[in-house]
Amino acid sequence: MLLFILLLLHTSAVLCGKPNIVFILTDDQDVELGGLTPLEKTKELIAGKGVTFTNAFATTPICCPSRASILTGLYLHNHETYNNSLNGGCSDGNWQNNFETKSYASYLKNEGYATFYAGKYLNQYGHKQAGGTEHVPPGWDWWVGLVGNSVYYNYTLSVNGSKLRKGDGEDDYLTDVLKKYGLDFLNQKSVLNNGFLMVISTPSAHDPFTPAVRHQNKFLGVKAPRLPNFNIPPGKEKHWLLRLPPGVLPEGTVNLIDSTFRHRWETLLSVDELVESVILKLEDLGVLNDTFVIFASDHGFHLGQFGLPWDKRQPYDFDLKIPFLVRGPGIPEDVKIPHPILTIDIAPTILDMANVSSKPKMDGQSLLPKLKNPGGDPPDRLFLIEYRGEQSEPKYEENCYEDVNVKLCAKELSCKCFDSKNNTFACIRRFKDDVNEIFCKFEDDERFTEFYDLKSDPYQLHNLAFGGERRIDSNDDEILKCCKEKAKEKKSIDDCFKI
Ligand SMILES: *[C@@H]1O[C@H](CO)[C@@H](O)[C@H](O)[C@H]1NC(C)=O
Ligand SMILES: *[C@@H]1O[C@H](CO)[C@@H](O)[C@H](O)[C@H]1NC(C)=O
Ligand SMILES: *[C@@H]1O[C@H](CO)[C@@H](O)[C@H](O)[C@H]1NC(C)=O
Ligand SMILES: *[C@@H]1O[C@H](CO)[C@@H](O)[C@H](O)[C@H]1NC(C)=O
Repeated sequence: MLLFILLLLHTSAVLCGKPNIVFILTDDQDVELGGLTPLEKTKELIAGKGVTFTNAFATTPICCPSRASILTGLYLHNHETYNNSLNGGCSDGNWQNNFETKSYASYLKNEGYATFYAGKYLNQYGHKQAGGTEHVPPGWDWWVGLVGNSVYYNYTLSVNGSKLRKGDGEDDYLTDVLKKYGLDFLNQKSVLNNGFLMVISTPSAHDPFTPAVRHQNKFLGVKAPRLPNFNIPPGKEKHWLLRLPPGVLPEGTVNLIDSTFRHRWETLLSVDELVESVILKLEDLGVLNDTFVIFASDHGFHLGQFGLPWDKRQPYDFDLKIPFLVRGPGIPEDVKIPHPILTIDIAPTILDMANVSSKPKMDGQSLLPKLKNPGGDPPDRLFLIEYRGEQSEPKYEENCYEDVNVKLCAKELSCKCFDSKNNTFACIRRFKDDVNEIFCKFEDDERFTEFYDLKSDPYQLHNLAFGGERRIDSNDDEILKCCKEKAKEKKSIDDCFKI
């Protein structure tokens, strides 16, 4: 009997050997405009050795809410982080008390994982009213949190709850500092004992688009891609914010778009080096085989699409689609999977990879079955995209308009606004067999509707909801209301389409 128990213990110890998980999260990195192009090593070391999801989406195209979704596996309306401000739930008390405690890190720590986080977290992290730098989110053993939003120099970190100020010396370049902390963590051999979770969240490719000194001017002559939707004047079939003048951006603004595009790529070169260093270190330590490596971005980005200078916050694929690469034990090499997957799938996937015994209910789904067996059924998935438009602070000097309801309308960018209070929308994205559609409703005076068949119109030039061509013409409001309610109850939204 004793022998049997010992045997059993031995076998289960072997079977339960915990795989490690490394998650590299970038900021504002698109995939539609070639955001992965400069990452040669990442493509070789992660995509080439694993899976590329070619239809990966953010369920909300804005930093703080999307990061809250990534941490919790929940849709925006369920994690209650509505925008990038404290009063919109970003890192506020409600978040800290009710949601942050249920991030994937807490579950892994409970399973005995050594956990590490370095880099941008939530935009208001470290704010005095959010507990300052002393606040270390639960679940993390090693904590190197960036105070506030992405920057590359002159920033403050919370290192295990202690404030550390960095300047603008070459060695202070944030992505490099994060890499160094990551390697220090891996060098503590004790973290290899019982599985580790390492998350590195880079400022690249976010504004202010500052490359490391060694990467300056690496892409001289490169221009933003002239896709069919580049600097196309938005017609009557686009929602009002896009219709603000000018329809076509002048040459000066287009030049700024091109230099921003180049600088974004340059900032990503330091990420490519980070990925290579981490993978080589894992190999050195002899644990690469037993480590899942996930590479993704919080949402996409646009540069010139429909005459918008640059940013995110729009319900089009350039802002929603993200790079998503995974390698690890049991995952085939160099495979592309078209099955649609979401930012809210990341947390359940990490829990599944770590074989967490009692899993909480999340809105997303584990990708592990798909990763291990990429073939299978044709895609069949319905999901929500949500966004709450932002307004300006009462002082709106940067704006061309004396109107707090619009936001980020800079003179140097032709006064084309990035956002507005009523740029609030909910969309349903549907993939089924050959169907690939998005249906969006804006909460503006017009209750504007946009509907695209991405199969025939990948650049979203033709709004089928405009001019009587639409295919979902029944109770839009009913459908969306139903979807939101079902999602709130964490039930399938499929039935809503039978209304
Ligand atoms: C942070 O805390 C962890 C856990 O206590 C510790 O192992 C690590 O050395 C600390 N890191 C730094 C940089 O102080
Ligand atoms: C960093 O801050 C210093 C002091 O305020 C300033 O002179 C310098 O220009 C800043 N560097 C960058 C890259 O912003
Ligand atoms: C790790 O990968 C190498 C090379 O593919 C292989 O030879 C080795 O057996 C693997 N080790 C484990 C523990 O899977
Ligand atoms: C963020 O959301 C809150 C709550 O809805 C709102 O009061 C605030 O104005 C929003 N912030 C911005 C910048 O729009």
